[in-house]
Parts: sequence; C-alpha cells; structure tokens
Amino acid sequence: MIKFVTAGESHGPALTAVVENLPSGIPLTEEYINLQLKRRQGGYGRGGRMKIESDRAEFLSGVRGGFTLGSPVAVRIENRDWANWSAVMGPGPGAHTGERVVTRPRPGHADLSGAIKYCHRDIRNVLERASARETAARVAVGSMARRLLEELGVKIMGVVVGIGPVTSKMPDLPPEALEELVARSSLGCADPGAEEAMKAEIDRARESGDSLGGVFEVRIYGLPPGLGSYTSWDRKLEGRLAGAVMSIQAIKGVEVGLGFGAARLPGSRVHDEIYHSKERGFYRKTNRAGGIEGGMTNGEPVVLRAAMKPIPTLYKPLKSVDLVTKEPFEASVERSDVCAVQAACVVGEAVAAWEIAGACLEKFGGDCLEEIKSRWLAYIKRARSF
Ligand SMILES: Cc1cc2nc3c(=O)[nH]c(=O)nc-3n(C[C@H](O)[C@H](O)[C@H](O)COP(=O)(O)O)c2cc1C
Repeated sequence: MIKFVTAGESHGPALTAVVENLPSGIPLTEEYINLQLKRRQGGYGRGGRMKIESDRAEFLSGVRGGFTLGSPVAVRIENRDWANWSAVMGPGPGAHTGERVVTRPRPGHADLSGAIKYCHRDIRNVLERASARETAARVAVGSMARRLLEELGVKIMGVVVGIGPVTSKMPDLPPEALEELVARSSLGCADPGAEEAMKAEIDRARESGDSLGGVFEVRIYGLPPGLGSYTSWDRKLEGRLAGAVMSIQAIKGVEVGLGFGAARLPGSRVHDEIYHSKERGFYRKTNRAGGIEGGMTNGEPVVLRAAMKPIPTLYKPLKSVDLVTKEPFEASVERSDVCAVQAACVVGEAVAAWEIAGACLEKFGGDCLEEIKSRWLAYIKRARSF
C-alpha cells in the first residue's frame, strides 16, 4: 500500500514528504508538482504570506529521468521565509531568542489544547506545525497520486460552490468544459454571476476585519465500479475520502452526492435507477449517490463537497486568555488569509487523489505502471461486458 509522511514547521527550513510504495514508471516532474503548488497559493482573499512564499518542489530521491523508480520518493519544499526565522526556529540549543515566544492562544486554532497536550509553554511549538502551511506537502504528495491517475484516464477537479452566504449554481457540463470555466475564474468557481457576489462578500469581510469560509466540490471522473469495498468498515471508500478531506485544516463537514440533502428527501428521489445498454454496460441516468454505493465506486463520477469554517485568525479581535498571566486579552493579527476556500479546494483535490490512487493500487496492485495499466484495462473490459 502507498504511504506517506510529511514533516516540517511553518517557519522552519522546509516542508518534507516521503512517499512509499509508489509504482515505478510514472512520468513525474518537479514542474508538474509546482503547478499544483502554485494553484494552492492562489485565490481571492489570501493574505501576505502567499506573497512571500512561491513554493517549489525538489525531489531528493525516488525519481530519475522524469520517471518514478518504485523506491521511496522524498520531496522538499523550501520555506522562503526561513532566513528571517533561523534564529527563532533553529534546532540548536539557544536558538530561541524569546522575542517571538507566543503565550496568547488564538480561538479556533490548535494553540490552547496543543500547548496543554504537549506541555509547551511557547505556543509557537504548536502553531508552527498545526498551520495550514503543512498542506503544501500534502498537495505535493497528492500530485504524485494525481499523475498516476491521469495515466489511467482519471480526471480530478475541484470547484468552489459557496463563499459565506453566497452559493453558486453548478452548470451541467462535461468535465473539460467545466474545468475551462473554473480555470477562467479568479475564485475557482463555475458561475460568473455568483463569483462577483462572492468577491464582494470577501471584500466586505476584509474591510470589517472579519473572515469567511465556504464550500468546495471535488469531482473524480473516469473510475470503474468496484474501487473500495463493502466487506470491512475501513475499506469503504466514502469513509476513507471523508477522513482524508476532514483532515484538512478548517474543514468541518463532508458530503458525498446529495449528502445531508438525502435525509430530507423520499427514497424515490434519492436512489439512482440502474439501466443497461450493450455499448455502456450498466449505467445510471442520475448521480445522486455521488458515485459511491456500499463503500465502492459505482462507475459514475465521485462527487464530494466539503465545508470550510471561516479563517480563525481575525483582524477583528477575539477574546482569549494569556497562558502565563491568565489575564484576558483580545487576539488580533496583521497578516492572515481572509478566505482560503479556493486553496483548500486544491488541497481537497490532492487528498482525494491520494485516497483514490490507494484504492486503485489495492484493486490492481502492480509494481510498475505498465502492470497496473494492463490490469486496469482488463478489468474495465470485464466490468463492461459483465
Ligand atoms: C489552505 C488553508 C489556508 C489557511 N490559512 C489560514 C490563515 O491564513 N490564518 C488562519 O488563522 N487560519 C488559516 N487556515 C485555517 C487553520 O489552519 C485551521 O483553522 C487551524 O489550523 C485549526 O484547525 P481546525 O480548523 O481544523 O480545527 C487555513 C486553512 C487552509 C486549508
């Protein structure tokens, strides 16, 4: 099974990830990963740090001549702000100058519980790792999975469908046309009318020192039926996808297909009836299940939606209590994102890609891409003529 671990503090020298058991023969370049890293850094409503950082992936192992080797892939993303932080964040004794010690926990962050749990008197030891900066490493890792899936003809795309109170319409378009529409949008949205209202909402939040969350959708096209399994709880695909998406900082809800909406409708308006034709095999005319039934893909596109809470660091102060003095204070900042739903959507695509790639490798195994491709094609043929 493919595995990964990420390491790195937000103001440390770099973020690092090590990926194990990625098959050999996958075409993969640093430029490919950089493109996804760049997407994560964009979006209307981002803060000052995005202007400092321009993320670039550097392979340290596992890739040679533009192809994966089958050995562990180590990737490094330098933190460009490191030069200004080495005195504070360095690993040697005495590096801590005390000037940037944090004793004021911010509501909505890992600060307070993290300090209590790990016995840190300096909250910096918590926030440096809990920060969403870590998602850069997950995007790098997810890009490797995405590249593998592309080789199998699987397409992953994300769309922002809500910012604060504004929701957008999802046009009924084929994936390529939808992707084009989203690429043209400065907010990763597929509804130009709603996009303007979303931007106005973000501007309003910024002016009033507030922040906004929203909803994004991740769609995965081109999957055969039978990825994941009904046989055991931990093999059910929607559980794995939901867990992965919920692990993204600030994500507070995940839906598959109709999601919560299904609870308000009668069964006749929820389930997707089954049809058959010689050319297509079994198929559906609707996709309310979001492409997953019984813990497995059913051959329709997988559709996930995630709810992101508003950014917790606000210009408008929030009440908190100092860890040392126990005195109340009001937490505020000079530099933070106002809204990062579009960036979170890119992270959502990456973590979904990872889970889907994992399910593909579980089903089709293989040490090299060629092997996986031939098993994939044979299975699709069998499923179509079943
Ligand atoms: C892409 C992305 C960017 C984020 N940017 C910020 C930010 O600039 N300031 C902030 O306070 N929180 C930001 N967050 C959210 C926090 O990281 C998150 O709310 C915090 O770590 C607490 O975790 P929880 O919300 O999952 O409980 C961001 C989250 C994501 C996914």
